[in-house]
Amino acid sequence: MKPVQFNNTVLRDGHQSLAATRMTTAQMLPAAPILDEMGFAGLETWGGATIDSCLRFLGENPFDRLRALKKAAPKTPQIMLLRGQNIVQYTSFPDDVVEAFVRADAAAGQDIFRIFDALNDPRNLATAIKTVKACGKHARGEICYTTSPVHTIDAFLRLGRELREMGCDSIGIKDMSGVIAPRIAYEMVKQLKEKVGLPVVLHTHDTAGLGASAYLAAIDAGVDIVETSIAPFANGTSQPDTVRMIALLEGHPRCPKFDPAKLQQLREYFTEVYKQLSKFTSPDNERVDSDTLCYQVPGGMLSNFRNQLNEQKMSDKFADVMAEIPRVRAALGWIPLVTPTSQIVGTQAMLNVKFGRWKTIAPAAADIALNKYGRPPGAVDPELIKLIKERTGQTPIEGRPADALSPRMPKLREELAAKGLPTDDEACVLHAMFPQEFAKLHAPKPAAASAPVEVAAKPAAPAPAAAAQPAGPGNRYRLTIDGKTTEAVVEEL
Ligand code: CO
Repeated sequence: MKPVQFNNTVLRDGHQSLAATRMTTAQMLPAAPILDEMGFAGLETWGGATIDSCLRFLGENPFDRLRALKKAAPKTPQIMLLRGQNIVQYTSFPDDVVEAFVRADAAAGQDIFRIFDALNDPRNLATAIKTVKACGKHARGEICYTTSPVHTIDAFLRLGRELREMGCDSIGIKDMSGVIAPRIAYEMVKQLKEKVGLPVVLHTHDTAGLGASAYLAAIDAGVDIVETSIAPFANGTSQPDTVRMIALLEGHPRCPKFDPAKLQQLREYFTEVYKQLSKFTSPDNERVDSDTLCYQVPGGMLSNFRNQLNEQKMSDKFADVMAEIPRVRAALGWIPLVTPTSQIVGTQAMLNVKFGRWKTIAPAAADIALNKYGRPPGAVDPELIKLIKERTGQTPIEGRPADALSPRMPKLREELAAKGLPTDDEACVLHAMFPQEFAKLHAPKPAAASAPVEVAAKPAAPAPAAAAQPAGPGNRYRLTIDGKTTEAVVEEL
Protein backbone atom coordinates (compact mmCIF):
# COMPACT_ATOMS: atom_id res chain seq x y z
CA MET A 1 0.00 0.00 0.00
CA LYS A 2 1.27 3.45 -0.95
CA PRO A 3 2.14 5.68 2.04
CA VAL A 4 -0.16 8.64 2.39
CA GLN A 5 1.51 11.97 1.55
CA PHE A 6 1.35 15.15 3.61
CA ASN A 7 1.17 18.73 2.38
CA ASN A 8 2.41 21.23 4.92
CA THR A 9 0.37 24.36 5.64
CA VAL A 10 2.42 26.14 8.33
CA LEU A 11 3.41 28.99 6.00
CA ARG A 12 -0.20 29.78 4.97
CA ASP A 13 -3.21 28.25 6.72
CA GLY A 14 -1.24 27.52 9.92
CA HIS A 15 -0.53 31.16 10.73
CA GLN A 16 -3.70 32.42 9.05
CA SER A 17 -5.77 30.23 11.38
CA LEU A 18 -3.81 30.86 14.58
CA ALA A 19 -1.85 34.11 14.21
CA ALA A 20 -4.04 36.36 12.06
CA THR A 21 -1.87 35.74 8.95
CA ARG A 22 0.93 37.83 10.42
CA MET A 23 3.99 35.61 9.80
CA THR A 24 6.51 37.66 7.83
CA THR A 25 8.70 36.41 5.00
CA ALA A 26 11.73 36.96 7.26
CA GLN A 27 10.14 34.64 9.82
CA MET A 28 9.46 32.01 7.13
CA LEU A 29 12.79 31.92 5.33
CA PRO A 30 14.96 30.19 7.99
CA ALA A 31 12.48 27.27 8.08
CA ALA A 32 11.98 27.00 4.32
CA PRO A 33 15.10 24.88 3.51
CA ILE A 34 14.24 22.43 6.32
CA LEU A 35 10.62 22.17 5.15
CA ASP A 36 11.99 21.58 1.65
CA GLU A 37 14.05 18.59 2.83
CA MET A 38 11.22 16.84 4.67
CA GLY A 39 9.49 15.12 1.76
CA PHE A 40 6.20 16.97 1.92
CA ALA A 41 4.15 16.60 -1.28
CA GLY A 42 3.59 20.36 -1.27
CA LEU A 43 4.04 23.47 0.83
CA GLU A 44 1.06 25.80 1.08
CA THR A 45 2.68 29.23 1.17
CA TRP A 46 0.46 31.71 -0.64
CA GLY A 47 -3.07 32.94 -1.32
CA GLY A 48 -5.98 33.06 1.09
CA ALA A 49 -5.47 36.10 3.33
CA THR A 50 -1.66 36.21 2.92
CA ILE A 51 -1.69 38.63 -0.01
CA ASP A 52 -3.94 41.09 1.80
CA SER A 53 -1.90 40.71 4.99
CA CYS A 54 1.42 41.26 3.17
CA LEU A 55 0.18 44.52 1.70
CA ARG A 56 -1.97 45.81 4.56
CA PHE A 57 0.03 44.90 7.63
CA LEU A 58 3.51 43.74 6.72
CA GLY A 59 4.55 46.19 4.00
CA GLU A 60 5.64 43.29 1.80
CA ASN A 61 5.16 42.61 -1.88
CA PRO A 62 3.45 39.18 -1.91
CA PHE A 63 5.07 38.20 -5.22
CA ASP A 64 8.50 38.90 -3.72
CA ARG A 65 7.58 36.57 -0.84
CA LEU A 66 6.73 33.80 -3.29
CA ARG A 67 10.00 34.27 -5.21
CA ALA A 68 12.00 34.25 -1.97
CA LEU A 69 10.30 31.07 -0.77
CA LYS A 70 10.83 29.38 -4.13
CA LYS A 71 14.52 30.17 -3.89
CA ALA A 72 14.73 28.91 -0.30
CA ALA A 73 12.63 25.77 -0.96
CA PRO A 74 13.09 24.94 -4.64
CA LYS A 75 12.35 21.19 -4.53
CA THR A 76 8.87 21.01 -3.03
CA PRO A 77 5.90 22.24 -5.10
CA GLN A 78 4.32 25.38 -3.67
CA ILE A 79 0.59 25.67 -3.27
CA MET A 80 -1.75 28.65 -3.21
CA LEU A 81 -5.42 29.02 -2.30
CA LEU A 82 -7.36 30.85 -5.01
CA ARG A 83 -10.97 31.95 -4.56
CA GLY A 84 -11.99 31.40 -8.19
CA GLN A 85 -13.34 34.50 -9.88
CA ASN A 86 -12.84 36.49 -6.63
CA ILE A 87 -9.06 35.80 -6.77
CA VAL A 88 -8.32 36.66 -3.10
CA GLN A 89 -11.02 39.29 -2.59
CA TYR A 90 -14.79 39.44 -2.07
CA THR A 91 -16.14 40.50 -5.42
CA SER A 92 -15.88 38.97 -8.87
CA PHE A 93 -13.17 40.17 -11.22
CA PRO A 94 -13.32 40.12 -15.03
CA ASP A 95 -11.73 37.16 -16.79
CA ASP A 96 -8.73 39.17 -18.04
CA VAL A 97 -7.76 40.09 -14.46
CA VAL A 98 -8.12 36.47 -13.25
CA GLU A 99 -6.01 35.29 -16.21
CA ALA A 100 -3.32 37.91 -15.59
CA PHE A 101 -3.21 36.99 -11.90
CA VAL A 102 -2.75 33.27 -12.59
CA ARG A 103 -0.10 33.94 -15.27
CA ALA A 104 1.87 36.31 -13.02
CA ASP A 105 1.64 33.85 -10.12
CA ALA A 106 2.75 30.92 -12.29
CA ALA A 107 5.67 32.98 -13.59
CA ALA A 108 6.70 33.83 -10.01
CA GLY A 109 6.93 30.10 -9.25
CA GLN A 110 3.54 28.85 -8.08
CA ASP A 111 3.13 25.13 -8.82
CA ILE A 112 -0.26 24.04 -7.47
CA PHE A 113 -3.45 26.11 -7.42
CA ARG A 114 -6.20 25.11 -4.98
CA ILE A 115 -9.23 26.69 -6.63
CA PHE A 116 -12.58 27.05 -4.88
CA ASP A 117 -15.83 28.96 -5.02
CA ALA A 118 -17.89 29.77 -1.93
CA LEU A 119 -21.06 28.58 -3.69
CA ASN A 120 -19.43 25.53 -5.31
CA ASP A 121 -20.52 26.99 -8.67
CA PRO A 122 -18.09 25.47 -11.20
CA ARG A 123 -18.61 28.40 -13.61
CA ASN A 124 -16.74 30.56 -11.09
CA LEU A 125 -13.74 28.22 -11.31
CA ALA A 126 -13.65 27.84 -15.10
CA THR A 127 -11.37 30.76 -16.03
CA ALA A 128 -8.87 30.02 -13.26
CA ILE A 129 -8.68 26.30 -14.11
CA LYS A 130 -8.26 27.00 -17.84
CA THR A 131 -5.47 29.51 -17.22
CA VAL A 132 -3.63 27.29 -14.72
CA LYS A 133 -3.66 24.49 -17.29
CA ALA A 134 -2.52 26.85 -20.07
CA CYS A 135 0.47 27.78 -17.85
CA GLY A 136 1.32 24.07 -17.48
CA LYS A 137 0.60 24.07 -13.74
CA HIS A 138 -1.44 21.82 -11.45
CA ALA A 139 -5.11 22.71 -10.94
CA ARG A 140 -6.69 21.28 -7.81
CA GLY A 141 -10.46 21.75 -7.89
CA GLU A 142 -11.81 22.21 -4.38
CA ILE A 143 -15.19 21.00 -3.15
CA CYS A 144 -16.29 23.18 -0.21
CA TYR A 145 -17.65 20.72 2.33
CA THR A 146 -20.73 21.68 4.28
CA THR A 147 -23.79 19.97 5.69
CA SER A 148 -27.33 20.75 4.49
CA PRO A 149 -30.27 18.88 2.96
CA VAL A 150 -28.87 19.57 -0.54
CA HIS A 151 -25.22 18.67 0.20
CA THR A 152 -25.38 14.92 -0.33
CA ILE A 153 -22.44 12.73 -1.30
CA ASP A 154 -24.05 12.41 -4.75
CA ALA A 155 -24.07 16.19 -5.14
CA PHE A 156 -20.37 16.35 -4.19
CA LEU A 157 -19.62 13.55 -6.68
CA ARG A 158 -21.41 15.45 -9.45
CA LEU A 159 -19.21 18.46 -8.69
CA GLY A 160 -16.13 16.21 -8.63
CA ARG A 161 -16.97 14.88 -12.11
CA GLU A 162 -17.54 18.41 -13.39
CA LEU A 163 -14.17 19.54 -12.04
CA ARG A 164 -12.52 16.58 -13.80
CA GLU A 165 -14.25 17.50 -17.09
CA MET A 166 -13.01 21.08 -16.65
CA GLY A 167 -9.41 19.83 -16.60
CA CYS A 168 -8.54 19.61 -12.89
CA ASP A 169 -5.55 17.42 -12.04
CA SER A 170 -6.78 16.54 -8.56
CA ILE A 171 -9.77 17.05 -6.31
CA GLY A 172 -9.61 18.67 -2.88
CA ILE A 173 -12.20 18.32 -0.16
CA LYS A 174 -12.08 21.68 1.61
CA ASP A 175 -13.56 21.37 5.08
CA MET A 176 -13.03 24.93 6.27
CA SER A 177 -15.19 24.51 9.38
CA GLY A 178 -13.59 21.25 10.49
CA VAL A 179 -16.98 19.53 10.69
CA ILE A 180 -16.45 16.51 8.43
CA ALA A 181 -17.09 13.36 10.46
CA PRO A 182 -14.64 10.47 9.97
CA ARG A 183 -17.21 8.12 8.38
CA ILE A 184 -18.34 10.83 5.95
CA ALA A 185 -14.72 11.57 5.06
CA TYR A 186 -14.22 7.83 4.43
CA GLU A 187 -17.28 7.61 2.20
CA MET A 188 -16.52 10.79 0.23
CA VAL A 189 -12.91 9.85 -0.43
CA LYS A 190 -13.80 6.29 -1.42
CA GLN A 191 -16.49 7.37 -3.86
CA LEU A 192 -14.48 10.25 -5.31
CA LYS A 193 -11.53 7.89 -5.89
CA GLU A 194 -13.76 5.26 -7.52
CA LYS A 195 -16.10 7.45 -9.52
CA VAL A 196 -14.00 10.51 -10.42
CA GLY A 197 -10.66 8.73 -10.70
CA LEU A 198 -8.39 11.69 -9.83
CA PRO A 199 -6.03 12.00 -6.84
CA VAL A 200 -7.95 13.21 -3.78
CA VAL A 201 -6.66 15.58 -1.09
CA LEU A 202 -8.44 16.19 2.21
CA HIS A 203 -8.03 19.58 3.88
CA THR A 204 -9.64 20.07 7.27
CA HIS A 205 -9.23 21.99 10.52
CA ASP A 206 -9.06 20.64 14.04
CA THR A 207 -11.49 23.28 15.35
CA ALA A 208 -13.95 20.74 16.73
CA GLY A 209 -11.33 18.08 17.47
CA LEU A 210 -12.34 15.94 14.48
CA GLY A 211 -9.51 16.75 12.06
CA ALA A 212 -6.98 14.04 12.83
CA SER A 213 -9.66 11.30 13.04
CA ALA A 214 -11.15 12.46 9.75
CA TYR A 215 -7.67 12.18 8.18
CA LEU A 216 -7.21 8.67 9.59
CA ALA A 217 -10.55 7.55 8.12
CA ALA A 218 -9.70 9.20 4.79
CA ILE A 219 -6.32 7.43 4.76
CA ASP A 220 -8.13 4.11 5.27
CA ALA A 221 -10.34 5.02 2.30
CA GLY A 222 -7.31 5.68 0.06
CA VAL A 223 -6.92 9.47 0.16
CA ASP A 224 -3.70 10.48 -1.63
CA ILE A 225 -2.73 13.51 0.45
CA VAL A 226 -3.79 15.07 3.75
CA GLU A 227 -2.70 18.51 4.94
CA THR A 228 -0.90 19.02 8.25
CA SER A 229 0.88 21.91 9.92
CA ILE A 230 3.69 22.31 12.47
CA ALA A 231 2.86 23.00 16.13
CA PRO A 232 2.32 25.51 17.61
CA PHE A 233 0.81 26.73 14.31
CA ALA A 234 -1.22 23.49 14.30
CA ASN A 235 -4.30 21.91 15.90
CA GLY A 236 -7.21 24.01 17.16
CA THR A 237 -8.52 26.15 14.31
CA SER A 238 -5.52 25.11 12.19
CA GLN A 239 -4.59 21.75 10.60
CA PRO A 240 -3.55 18.79 12.79
CA ASP A 241 0.13 18.76 13.71
CA THR A 242 2.45 16.63 11.56
CA VAL A 243 4.04 14.85 14.55
CA ARG A 244 0.64 14.05 16.01
CA MET A 245 -0.61 12.70 12.68
CA ILE A 246 2.42 10.43 12.33
CA ALA A 247 1.89 9.12 15.88
CA LEU A 248 -1.73 8.40 15.01
CA LEU A 249 -0.55 6.37 11.99
CA GLU A 250 2.01 4.30 13.94
CA GLY A 251 1.76 0.71 12.65
CA HIS A 252 -0.58 1.75 9.83
CA PRO A 253 0.42 0.28 6.44
CA ARG A 254 0.22 3.75 4.88
CA CYS A 255 2.28 5.57 7.56
CA PRO A 256 4.72 7.97 5.81
CA LYS A 257 8.35 8.44 6.90
CA PHE A 258 9.54 11.78 8.24
CA ASP A 259 12.80 12.57 10.01
CA PRO A 260 11.82 13.07 13.69
CA ALA A 261 14.92 15.18 14.43
CA LYS A 262 14.08 17.62 11.64
CA LEU A 263 10.44 17.76 12.74
CA GLN A 264 11.67 18.64 16.23
CA GLN A 265 13.90 21.35 14.76
CA LEU A 266 10.91 22.84 12.94
CA ARG A 267 8.82 22.64 16.09
CA GLU A 268 11.46 24.55 18.07
CA TYR A 269 11.87 27.16 15.38
CA PHE A 270 8.14 27.81 15.00
CA THR A 271 7.69 27.95 18.78
CA GLU A 272 9.95 31.02 18.72
CA VAL A 273 8.02 32.59 15.86
CA TYR A 274 4.73 31.87 17.66
CA LYS A 275 6.03 33.78 20.67
CA GLN A 276 6.99 36.72 18.45
CA LEU A 277 3.44 36.77 17.11
CA SER A 278 1.81 36.56 20.55
CA LYS A 279 -0.16 39.76 19.91
CA PHE A 280 -2.09 37.91 17.25
CA THR A 281 -2.59 34.53 18.88
CA SER A 282 -5.35 33.53 21.28
CA PRO A 283 -5.92 30.48 23.50
CA ASP A 284 -9.52 30.48 22.17
CA ASN A 285 -8.24 29.29 18.80
CA GLU A 286 -5.99 26.62 20.26
CA ARG A 287 -8.65 24.61 22.06
CA VAL A 288 -11.32 22.20 20.84
CA ASP A 289 -14.51 24.16 20.28
CA SER A 290 -17.64 22.06 20.12
CA ASP A 291 -19.75 25.17 19.47
CA THR A 292 -18.65 24.88 15.88
CA LEU A 293 -20.41 21.48 15.68
CA CYS A 294 -23.40 22.77 17.57
CA TYR A 295 -23.89 25.76 15.26
CA GLN A 296 -22.30 24.33 12.10
CA VAL A 297 -20.36 27.52 11.44
CA PRO A 298 -16.59 27.94 11.03
CA GLY A 299 -14.65 28.66 14.24
CA GLY A 300 -13.27 31.94 12.88
CA MET A 301 -16.77 33.13 12.15
CA LEU A 302 -17.87 32.31 15.70
CA SER A 303 -15.13 34.39 17.30
CA ASN A 304 -15.79 37.29 14.91
CA PHE A 305 -19.45 37.14 15.73
CA ARG A 306 -18.95 37.26 19.44
CA ASN A 307 -16.95 40.48 18.89
CA GLN A 308 -19.43 41.98 16.46
CA LEU A 309 -22.42 41.25 18.70
CA ASN A 310 -20.58 42.85 21.62
CA GLU A 311 -19.90 45.96 19.59
CA GLN A 312 -23.52 46.12 18.46
CA LYS A 313 -24.67 45.65 22.11
CA MET A 314 -26.39 42.43 21.05
CA SER A 315 -24.32 39.90 22.99
CA ASP A 316 -27.44 38.64 24.79
CA LYS A 317 -28.78 37.67 21.34
CA PHE A 318 -25.95 35.23 20.48
CA ALA A 319 -28.18 32.13 20.64
CA ASP A 320 -30.92 33.82 18.59
CA VAL A 321 -28.47 34.89 15.89
CA MET A 322 -26.93 31.42 15.74
CA ALA A 323 -30.41 29.86 15.44
CA GLU A 324 -31.19 32.31 12.63
CA ILE A 325 -28.13 31.31 10.57
CA PRO A 326 -29.59 28.02 9.24
CA ARG A 327 -32.83 29.86 8.34
CA VAL A 328 -30.88 32.44 6.33
CA ARG A 329 -28.83 29.67 4.71
CA ALA A 330 -32.01 27.77 3.77
CA ALA A 331 -33.58 30.91 2.23
CA LEU A 332 -30.37 31.55 0.25
CA GLY A 333 -30.27 28.02 -1.21
CA TRP A 334 -28.12 26.44 1.54
CA ILE A 335 -24.91 28.22 0.58
CA PRO A 336 -21.76 26.93 2.33
CA LEU A 337 -20.29 29.20 5.01
CA VAL A 338 -16.88 30.27 3.76
CA THR A 339 -15.50 33.67 2.76
CA PRO A 340 -17.37 35.72 1.72
CA THR A 341 -20.68 33.93 2.32
CA SER A 342 -20.04 33.30 6.03
CA GLN A 343 -20.00 37.04 6.75
CA ILE A 344 -22.96 37.73 4.49
CA VAL A 345 -25.12 35.05 6.11
CA GLY A 346 -24.00 36.06 9.61
CA THR A 347 -24.76 39.74 8.96
CA GLN A 348 -28.21 38.93 7.61
CA ALA A 349 -28.91 36.71 10.64
CA MET A 350 -28.01 39.67 12.89
CA LEU A 351 -30.28 42.00 10.90
CA ASN A 352 -33.15 39.48 11.07
CA VAL A 353 -32.82 39.18 14.85
CA LYS A 354 -32.50 42.93 15.37
CA PHE A 355 -35.24 44.21 13.03
CA GLY A 356 -37.43 41.17 12.29
CA ARG A 357 -36.96 38.53 9.60
CA TRP A 358 -36.08 40.10 6.21
CA LYS A 359 -37.30 43.54 7.33
CA THR A 360 -33.85 44.80 6.34
CA ILE A 361 -32.00 42.93 3.62
CA ALA A 362 -28.24 43.41 3.39
CA PRO A 363 -27.28 44.27 -0.22
CA ALA A 364 -24.83 41.36 -0.34
CA ALA A 365 -27.52 38.91 0.82
CA ALA A 366 -29.83 40.25 -1.90
CA ASP A 367 -27.02 39.73 -4.42
CA ILE A 368 -26.74 36.07 -3.41
CA ALA A 369 -30.50 35.62 -3.85
CA LEU A 370 -30.18 37.27 -7.29
CA ASN A 371 -27.42 34.79 -8.35
CA LYS A 372 -24.84 37.59 -8.54
CA TYR A 373 -22.28 35.45 -6.72
CA GLY A 374 -23.15 32.39 -8.80
CA ARG A 375 -25.75 29.67 -8.61
CA PRO A 376 -26.61 28.72 -4.99
CA PRO A 377 -26.56 24.95 -4.35
CA GLY A 378 -30.30 24.77 -3.61
CA ALA A 379 -33.33 26.85 -4.59
CA VAL A 380 -33.55 30.39 -3.20
CA ASP A 381 -36.81 31.02 -1.30
CA PRO A 382 -39.25 32.48 -3.91
CA GLU A 383 -40.79 34.69 -1.22
CA LEU A 384 -37.39 36.32 -0.65
CA ILE A 385 -36.92 36.89 -4.38
CA LYS A 386 -40.38 38.52 -4.45
CA LEU A 387 -39.49 40.79 -1.52
CA ILE A 388 -36.25 41.91 -3.18
CA LYS A 389 -38.10 42.62 -6.44
CA GLU A 390 -40.72 44.69 -4.60
CA ARG A 391 -38.07 46.73 -2.81
CA THR A 392 -35.42 47.13 -5.48
CA GLY A 393 -37.00 46.11 -8.77
CA GLN A 394 -34.18 43.59 -9.31
CA THR A 395 -34.69 40.03 -10.55
CA PRO A 396 -32.24 37.08 -10.56
CA ILE A 397 -29.57 37.01 -13.27
CA GLU A 398 -29.21 33.91 -15.41
CA GLY A 399 -25.63 33.74 -16.75
CA ARG A 400 -22.20 33.39 -15.14
CA PRO A 401 -21.64 36.49 -12.98
CA ALA A 402 -18.28 37.36 -14.60
CA ASP A 403 -19.94 37.46 -18.05
CA ALA A 404 -21.42 40.81 -17.04
CA LEU A 405 -17.95 42.30 -16.39
CA SER A 406 -15.91 44.05 -19.10
CA PRO A 407 -12.14 43.54 -19.42
CA ARG A 408 -10.21 45.76 -17.01
CA MET A 409 -6.50 45.21 -17.61
CA PRO A 410 -5.93 48.15 -20.04
CA LYS A 411 -7.70 50.51 -17.62
CA LEU A 412 -5.70 49.20 -14.64
CA ARG A 413 -2.46 49.79 -16.55
CA GLU A 414 -3.53 53.35 -17.40
CA GLU A 415 -4.41 54.08 -13.77
CA LEU A 416 -1.03 52.84 -12.58
CA ALA A 417 0.86 54.76 -15.27
CA ALA A 418 -0.98 57.94 -14.28
CA LYS A 419 0.24 57.47 -10.72
CA GLY A 420 3.79 56.74 -11.82
CA LEU A 421 3.59 53.19 -10.44
CA PRO A 422 4.80 49.97 -12.11
CA THR A 423 2.41 48.76 -14.84
CA ASP A 424 3.34 45.08 -15.22
CA ASP A 425 0.77 42.31 -14.64
CA GLU A 426 1.79 41.79 -11.00
CA ALA A 427 1.21 45.48 -10.31
CA CYS A 428 -2.12 45.47 -12.19
CA VAL A 429 -3.62 42.52 -10.33
CA LEU A 430 -2.55 43.81 -6.90
CA HIS A 431 -3.86 47.27 -7.79
CA ALA A 432 -7.18 45.72 -8.94
CA MET A 433 -7.69 44.05 -5.56
CA PHE A 434 -5.95 46.36 -3.07
CA PRO A 435 -5.52 49.78 -4.70
CA GLN A 436 -4.67 51.79 -1.57
CA GLU A 437 -2.42 49.18 -0.03
CA PHE A 438 -0.56 48.66 -3.30
CA ALA A 439 0.02 52.42 -3.66
CA LYS A 440 1.24 52.53 -0.05
CA LEU A 441 3.79 49.83 -0.82
CA HIS A 442 5.33 52.14 -3.43
CA ALA A 443 4.97 55.38 -1.48
CA PRO A 444 8.30 57.11 -0.76
CA LYS A 445 9.59 55.83 2.56
CA PRO A 446 10.33 58.31 5.39
CA ALA A 447 13.88 59.67 5.26
CA ALA A 448 15.48 56.52 6.61
CA ALA A 449 18.25 56.70 4.03
CA SER A 450 19.74 59.84 5.58
CA ALA A 451 19.83 58.31 9.07
CA PRO A 452 23.17 56.88 10.20
CA VAL A 453 23.47 53.27 9.14
CA GLU A 454 24.11 50.77 11.87
CA VAL A 455 25.80 47.54 10.96
CA ALA A 456 24.53 44.57 12.90
CA ALA A 457 27.31 42.57 14.55
CA LYS A 458 25.49 39.29 13.91
CA PRO A 459 22.67 38.25 11.60
CA ALA A 460 19.40 39.68 12.85
CA ALA A 461 16.81 37.37 14.36
CA PRO A 462 13.58 37.20 12.35
CA ALA A 463 11.84 40.54 12.82
CA PRO A 464 8.61 40.53 14.81
CA ALA A 465 5.54 41.30 12.72
CA ALA A 466 4.16 44.83 12.63
CA ALA A 467 2.58 45.19 16.03
CA ALA A 468 0.23 48.11 16.38
CA GLN A 469 -2.50 46.59 14.22
CA PRO A 470 -5.74 45.12 15.50
CA ALA A 471 -5.65 41.33 15.50
CA GLY A 472 -7.33 39.60 12.60
CA PRO A 473 -6.45 38.48 9.11
CA GLY A 474 -6.35 41.01 6.34
CA ASN A 475 -9.80 40.41 4.97
CA ARG A 476 -12.29 42.88 6.32
CA TYR A 477 -16.00 43.20 6.08
CA ARG A 478 -17.85 46.31 7.18
CA LEU A 479 -21.25 46.10 8.78
CA THR A 480 -23.33 49.17 9.58
CA ILE A 481 -26.42 48.95 11.75
CA ASP A 482 -28.21 52.11 12.90
CA GLY A 483 -25.28 54.22 11.74
CA LYS A 484 -22.81 52.26 13.87
CA THR A 485 -20.14 50.57 11.80
CA THR A 486 -18.42 47.43 12.91
CA GLU A 487 -15.41 46.27 10.96
CA ALA A 488 -15.24 42.53 11.12
CA VAL A 489 -12.18 40.52 10.32
CA VAL A 490 -12.84 37.49 8.23
CA GLU A 491 -11.02 34.23 8.47
CA GLU A 492 -11.03 32.44 5.21
CA LEU A 493 -9.52 29.08 5.81
CO1 CO B 1 -8.14 25.81 5.58
